[in-house]
Amino acid sequence: MMDVKWFYCLVAVLHLITAAQLCYAGESRFPGSMKKIEVLKHLNRLNKRPVKSIKMRPTYHPSWVKDDNFNTDTSSSSSEEITQLWHSNGKCPKGTIPILRTNEEDVLRADSINSYGKKKKKSSFPVARPSSINPEVSNVSKDHEYATANTYKGIYYGAKARFNIWNPYVQEHNEFSLSQVWIQSGSDSDLNTIEAGWQVAPQYGDTKTRLFIYWTRDGYQTTGCYNLKCSGFVQTNNEIAIGASISPTSRFNSSQYGITILIWKDRKEADWWLQIGDGLDAKIIGYWPASLFSYLSESASVVAWGGEVINQRSGGQHTTTQMGSGYFPQEGFGKASFIRNIQTVDETNTLTTPQDLNTYTSQKSCYDIVKGLTDNWGSYIFFGGPGRNKNCP
Ligand SMILES: *[C@@H]1O[C@H](CO)[C@@H](O)[C@H](O)[C@H]1NC(C)=O
Ligand SMILES: *[C@@H]1O[C@H](CO)[C@@H](O)[C@H](O)[C@H]1NC(C)=O
Repeated sequence: MMDVKWFYCLVAVLHLITAAQLCYAGESRFPGSMKKIEVLKHLNRLNKRPVKSIKMRPTYHPSWVKDDNFNTDTSSSSSEEITQLWHSNGKCPKGTIPILRTNEEDVLRADSINSYGKKKKKSSFPVARPSSINPEVSNVSKDHEYATANTYKGIYYGAKARFNIWNPYVQEHNEFSLSQVWIQSGSDSDLNTIEAGWQVAPQYGDTKTRLFIYWTRDGYQTTGCYNLKCSGFVQTNNEIAIGASISPTSRFNSSQYGITILIWKDRKEADWWLQIGDGLDAKIIGYWPASLFSYLSESASVVAWGGEVINQRSGGQHTTTQMGSGYFPQEGFGKASFIRNIQTVDETNTLTTPQDLNTYTSQKSCYDIVKGLTDNWGSYIFFGGPGRNKNCP
């Protein structure tokens, strides 16, 4: 369910979006009037999103293979995976979109006003370019841990996969746990990324599992942000709020839930579109304009899927923040988190299944990954882990 109180509808006039001015009633609980003024200024920027023109639909779809086979007849379980999108308690009127309301507490909770909604600079996905695919030569930033699979031998125009959804435990307020797709081109300070998935990040103010998107054009330095916290992603859907909590989430050895995420490039207009759901449930959410990017205005060179957590090593020990379900991939269906039916959009505009994903884990004893390929599940990964344990002190 969406928490409707957290959303308001952004009024979109054709060719011009004018956000309703938000009013903040009530006294600030935060002393320091200078900081408050800066926060309010920043909120004005965040909550008013100037977009000059808006396209309401893509001009182009890849010719994807229909993927309505939800048969989960894998060796490990007879449980049924239920396809379920979250439901909104009513949708925004036509011509308006639901967006997360950003309030003072949200901004003050972030380390600094300027970093609000941004990833830390060093959070660059370690497999940004083929030369660093080998973990031994890639310098993974110390506080980020990954268990991912990637493909980098082609030119990519999109990616699709079905993400199993969980609500992992996150130990510290400044840590997070996520499951996502990365679509990338360039490297280091020129790294362009488009990212989407689910995450638990106490910085949102709670520990719910939420849909998120992210983009950057300069390796997370000065451009890009989560969700709609800066101008960039243009939302066209009036039902689904980016940043909305997703429920239900999967339960250990019980019901499993998932969402399908498709991102593809409109080859005529060059924009990258986001679709959530599949088949009759599919909803086009909006697009990242080509103009946001340098390399990605053409195509992507790396696509990766998997989990990421931040490990703050509080008290000198590894975090107990879980990745995925909190169980190792070897536990299999119903217990470990997975991403399945992993596909990329290739140069011939076709969804293809990568036959040989490369897997990467920054600390196998804390979070691990296992890949596989079957008829029903296509290319898939199980990934995750508990974080701190006797082999991961
Ligand atoms: C990784 O970092 C270490 C020091 O932190 C440095 O000596 C090494 O050259 C770096 N490796 C690469 C591939 O950048
Ligand atoms: C998983 O569920 C099955 C059937 O309900 C049960 O027999 C089994 O003991 C459960 N396993 C675990 C590890 O909870």
